[in-house]
Amino acid sequence: SEALEGSNAKRGLWSSRLAFVLAATGSAVGLGNIWKFPYITGENGGGAFVLVYLLCIAAVGLPIMMAEVLIGRRGGHSPVNSLRLIAERDRLKPAWRMVGAVGVLAGFLILSFYSVIGGWAVSYVGTAASGQLVGQSAEAIGAIFSGLLSDPLTLLMWHTVFMALVMVVVAKGVRSGLERAVSILMPGLFILLLIVVGYAMTTGEFGRAASFLFQPDFSKLTTSGILVALGHAFFTLSLGMAVMMAYGSYLPKNISIAKTSIVVSVIDTGVALLAGLAIFPIVFANGLEPGAGPGLIFQTLPLAFGQMPMGSLFGTLFFILLIFAAWTSGISLLEPIVEWLEEQKGMNRTVSTLGAGLVCWALGIASILSLNLWSDFTPLGSIAMFEGKTVFDLLDFFTANILLPLGGLMVAVFAGWVMSRQAVEKELALSAPMFKLWYTTVRYFTPVAVAAVFIYNLL
Ligand code: PFF
Ligand code: NA
Repeated sequence: SEALEGSNAKRGLWSSRLAFVLAATGSAVGLGNIWKFPYITGENGGGAFVLVYLLCIAAVGLPIMMAEVLIGRRGGHSPVNSLRLIAERDRLKPAWRMVGAVGVLAGFLILSFYSVIGGWAVSYVGTAASGQLVGQSAEAIGAIFSGLLSDPLTLLMWHTVFMALVMVVVAKGVRSGLERAVSILMPGLFILLLIVVGYAMTTGEFGRAASFLFQPDFSKLTTSGILVALGHAFFTLSLGMAVMMAYGSYLPKNISIAKTSIVVSVIDTGVALLAGLAIFPIVFANGLEPGAGPGLIFQTLPLAFGQMPMGSLFGTLFFILLIFAAWTSGISLLEPIVEWLEEQKGMNRTVSTLGAGLVCWALGIASILSLNLWSDFTPLGSIAMFEGKTVFDLLDFFTANILLPLGGLMVAVFAGWVMSRQAVEKELALSAPMFKLWYTTVRYFTPVAVAAVFIYNLL
């Protein structure tokens, strides 16, 4: 491990706090915010779920993001090596390789279906640009979406395009262009969301949507809803698979981990809430079902683009920006796998990108078939909690609600119990009361909360 010492400098640091924030935001903001948050909010009854989700972000997600970034910066290497290095005097050292393994497995599984949904966005660029959406009824818009889902070969084509986009960037190992892209495209996405929110205000159902999102009705909150909210906090902030740990290893020492983590979490949460405010007025104004599931944004936003002035232009731009947001997240899902293959298996970058990318691509076919030919195939359907879940639903459930929280739990235990308190304190450089709050959270609150939600749901 001596050879590894001081390689922080060799690997080069982010040029500034902004560069780190851009990269981390690029990973965090994606389909999780615009596709997943609205539909799980709709499925879980709105306000109470949103409140639990916000609590999970603040009390579990943010502290774990800080833990990941600090482990990464302290170790100064790839996640597996950082953990090994910091845990040097720990007899359980090999156990921490598990964090890397969980991350690699989660990356494979998530990217496989993430790319299929990214493919939907690719397909909708053409749908919006061709003017097909103009003046369409909710039924016609729904039919366009069902038509896409029922066609495995078209889905495969767009999934292939999305996967190829991700693989090209990861194979080249580019990072600099990506940051610039994020700094232009993220604000663009934000502005387009604001435009749709503006349109949503004219539908007459904005107030109803706002109370749906922000007025908690606890009778609608279920234990499985709490598990989904917790899992989504990990998914949306890209936690539990060591992505933020990898990025943290490039963060200069003089930059506040707490402040940067707060910035990333606030941007991510802001985009999700804005997406909710854009979509639910359209849902209510057109008599659609809030619990419509994974197709929700593709059944609502096209309606808005079909009705607003210059809708075809805004719709085209919106789906292009959504692809970019999903692309930067997809890259951050594949990158750790490729780095792991390079480092642990000694493969070169091109070969590992091709290999890992092809495995994800092939796995994605299972998700594609779940939408049509296998739509009645529910492999674990005999277990109550998996009733009615297709392969695609199971992949989504298992990664977001089990694997990522498990990875996050290990990170919390590592930062809270394995690292020396001194090292952690120095790295965070917080005021005494703030440090105490964070330390208590990762040592006790986070592990207990994650374990409790797990156990409660399994029983
Ligand atoms: N955070 C991304 C999103 O919200 O779309 C998804 C994601 C990216 C999850 C990277 C996990 C990850 F490591
Ligand atoms: Na996100």
